[in-house]
Amino acid sequence: MDKKWWQKAVFYEIYCKSFCDSDGDGLGDLKGVMSKLPMLKELGIDCIWFTPIYTSPQVDNGYDVADYYDIDPRYGTLEDFKELLDKAHSLGIKVIMDQVLNHSSDECVWFRESRKSKDNPYRNYYIWQPPKADGTPPNNWGSYFREGDGSAWEFDETTGEYYLHQYAIKMPDLNWEYQPLRQEIYKMLRWWLDMGVDGFRLDVFTRLKKPAGFPDTKKAPDPKLDRNGFVVDPSMCTMQEGIHEILHDMWVNVFSKYPNCMTVGEGTGITPENAPEYIAPSCEEIDSAYHFNLASRKRPPFTVAEFRDIQMRWFKTMEHGVWPSNYFSNHDSRRQVTYYGDDGEYRRESAKLLAVLSCTAPGNVYLFQGEEIGMTNVQYDRIEEHDCCYTLGDYYSMVAKGATPQEAMAYVGPRSRDNARAPYHWNDSENAGFTTGKPWLKVNPNYPEINLEADRKHPQSIFAFYQKLLKLRKENPAVYDGDLRFYREDSDKVIVYTRSCPEQTMLVIANKSGDTLPVELPEELTRHSWKRILTNREETAPSLEGGRGWLPWEVEVYVR
Ligand code: NOJ
Repeated sequence: MDKKWWQKAVFYEIYCKSFCDSDGDGLGDLKGVMSKLPMLKELGIDCIWFTPIYTSPQVDNGYDVADYYDIDPRYGTLEDFKELLDKAHSLGIKVIMDQVLNHSSDECVWFRESRKSKDNPYRNYYIWQPPKADGTPPNNWGSYFREGDGSAWEFDETTGEYYLHQYAIKMPDLNWEYQPLRQEIYKMLRWWLDMGVDGFRLDVFTRLKKPAGFPDTKKAPDPKLDRNGFVVDPSMCTMQEGIHEILHDMWVNVFSKYPNCMTVGEGTGITPENAPEYIAPSCEEIDSAYHFNLASRKRPPFTVAEFRDIQMRWFKTMEHGVWPSNYFSNHDSRRQVTYYGDDGEYRRESAKLLAVLSCTAPGNVYLFQGEEIGMTNVQYDRIEEHDCCYTLGDYYSMVAKGATPQEAMAYVGPRSRDNARAPYHWNDSENAGFTTGKPWLKVNPNYPEINLEADRKHPQSIFAFYQKLLKLRKENPAVYDGDLRFYREDSDKVIVYTRSCPEQTMLVIANKSGDTLPVELPEELTRHSWKRILTNREETAPSLEGGRGWLPWEVEVYVR
């Protein structure tokens, strides 16, 4: 079956601030990214996803956009971006941009105008409500970012009304009920597409619609998320009735006019069961969405049984034309090898095993910078080393409730988004070759051992393994067109599956444990002869014999 370019693409997420600093100010920048395009080409990726690089006060590292039409001067200029786009395209690499359409920064000109007066032409770009009779916020919603009194509404003296901010106080929510706001957004999206960008990642796309009348949530306050009685209830503004109308309208006005443009949503609330309502092509909304069913900072690491169940449920969505998106980590999570693998003795093996699981799954794959060298979580010692607003909020709230700084650090450190956001390790020179200045976020002290240069020289290079794996994805149609079938579902350590299409069958066997295991495979697999095309354990002979022990974190790919 013919595929669109993006269906076969391997996406690579660049968190620009932490990727490569070209001018020594301690922050990654576009010139830094440009200098590394040849490395990305060698790796074999097809498309870069840039997290927001627009002008921003950086309250939430760019997810607070002040100017949707410009590049933050910390990262470079619009001219730099155009040059980067051209260079990437000339290497055959596409580029998608993050679009933050649920909220902007309060420093965005739209909001600066909006707050001036009730009759300002921009007033309704945002969500304003009068106080209750007693002067308190319009309802009991709490904001995700633990700030101020905890309410999701902020009082603005100038006009005596509150505005909604689901996230930081400096990140007011946009009002998608208001047609001129929609047209403003559509114009801006078309401007980027006309420049040549290849599509968008849509931040929290299921949250654009708010419930009519802004009713109180009935959910009880969660003591862990205490906000002075204000309640954090994601369901209030997620997947509300009417969200489809908004997404379809955006498709009609923008995406449908650019047939090669791709869109992937950050699928807050998306499950295999509701995905067809949003991403089946017949919906005419968005092309794909990545979900939190497996990988989320907030859930425990997935078990082997959960992996099978979730992958199979997502595979079934393909009957409805859905194209799933796979990833294990991104800028909002922990490092995958630490969380789902083993970042000690079997770091290399488990990094490769996770790579195979995501890159041979049905649908797209999104790699996050640093996975290709097996970067790990950071050991943070002091709260001052952190940047992430969730981390700071949780820490100070725990300490205020009586936790010792050590207890609070032990809780927030391993969960922090800063683990993934720490600077990239290019080599073993000072600051991992990321910057000649002072890095904006602590560099993981393990960089002398874990860095790109060292990895590429190592006989068991993770980078080289990714290169083979991404090539293998391109050459084997079963990855795109294959059915999915799991075997040995009785095992809580071994993942065995086939991807079969008329041309071939691919078999993946993964020992997701630190134990050596004799894996008995069913006769319907062993009766065929298979060719091993990838292994992370060169020392084992290609063999599906049950008698042979599968080594800790061993993963193999066979075809016939
Ligand atoms: C999701 C983004 O990935 C995250 O980094 C950000 O904090 C929130 N959306 C708010 O924009």
